[in-house]
Amino acid sequence: MNNLKESMKAIASKVDAKLNELLKSPDTKEKLIFEAMRYSALSGGKRLRPFLVMTSSSLFNVKEDYALRVAAALEMIHCYSLIHDDLPAMDDDDLRRGQPTNHKKYDEATAILAGDSLLTKAFEVLADEKTHHDPLVRCSLVKALAKASGANGMVGGQVLDIMAEDSEMNLDDIIRLQGLKTGCLISFACEAGAILGNADEKDKHSLLNYSRNLGLAFQIADDILDTEGDAELVGKAVGKDAEAGKATFVSLLGLENARQKASDLVVQASKQLDTFGDKADLLKKVADFVVKRNY
Ligand code: IPE
Ligand code: IPE
Ligand code: MG
Ligand code: MG
Ligand code: MG
Repeated sequence: MNNLKESMKAIASKVDAKLNELLKSPDTKEKLIFEAMRYSALSGGKRLRPFLVMTSSSLFNVKEDYALRVAAALEMIHCYSLIHDDLPAMDDDDLRRGQPTNHKKYDEATAILAGDSLLTKAFEVLADEKTHHDPLVRCSLVKALAKASGANGMVGGQVLDIMAEDSEMNLDDIIRLQGLKTGCLISFACEAGAILGNADEKDKHSLLNYSRNLGLAFQIADDILDTEGDAELVGKAVGKDAEAGKATFVSLLGLENARQKASDLVVQASKQLDTFGDKADLLKKVADFVVKRNY
């Protein structure tokens, strides 16, 4: 695990440097929006999605700077989704990554716009020739991230999540909801390595299966932390799902079964990587971390 923690730290600091470079603020009257974007994008976080982009890229010997730019673009989308998720119209949260949420630090209008501009900046970065020399690869990245983020992906999942507050949901409904809400961006993170490295169909398929199991395990762990986590450690309010009457794996299965389900999914995830041999060690370790974490 030590080796994993060190690698996560090293990648997080490279991603911070890349975000810092890409979100440079101009000295103009509208610089407030850059300040608000930087406030959320450079506020820590586990940087799990960037880590997955970097480690999946390393399976295919992708140039580090290509992978870092994609990792930063994906983190921008993730941060935008968190800013909007925390708004009063959605989860109405005051704390994120241990500090005031974007709309608390600034105001609602600024938070909405900071989210919007992180979303659009991500695609500007992907489309830039510095992200890959082959325009077809850049196009594939743009298409895959747009799909994973939009109504057929994360946004679709957020819509179902809001509906989960007052509609009956069974296990299959929850799996679908969480696959969209959280799974799609996690899958993109792994797919990105395969796209950047022009991987063959077999390797793409193995990574996709890994990421689907991982994404679900990740969201189950988030739901468990919402039930029994320490707000100080997780850096956000806990107990929100139950308070909102939201159906989750924990509400449907109970804590113990949810925990078991998450570790079964990690075993499934890791199995998919056997075809890559030792090169996939960090991806296996991070799957384990995802369900054992307390933050
Ligand atoms: C939180 O994601 C939102 C979910 C999809 C559950 P993370 O737990 O990855 O949040 P950060 O990036 O580490 O803050
Ligand atoms: C949000 O899910 C996932 C996103 C797409 C942003 P949650 O609402 O469960 O995330 P947290 O618990 O606030 O981080
Ligand atoms: Mg939410
Ligand atoms: Mg939330
Ligand atoms: Mg949650």
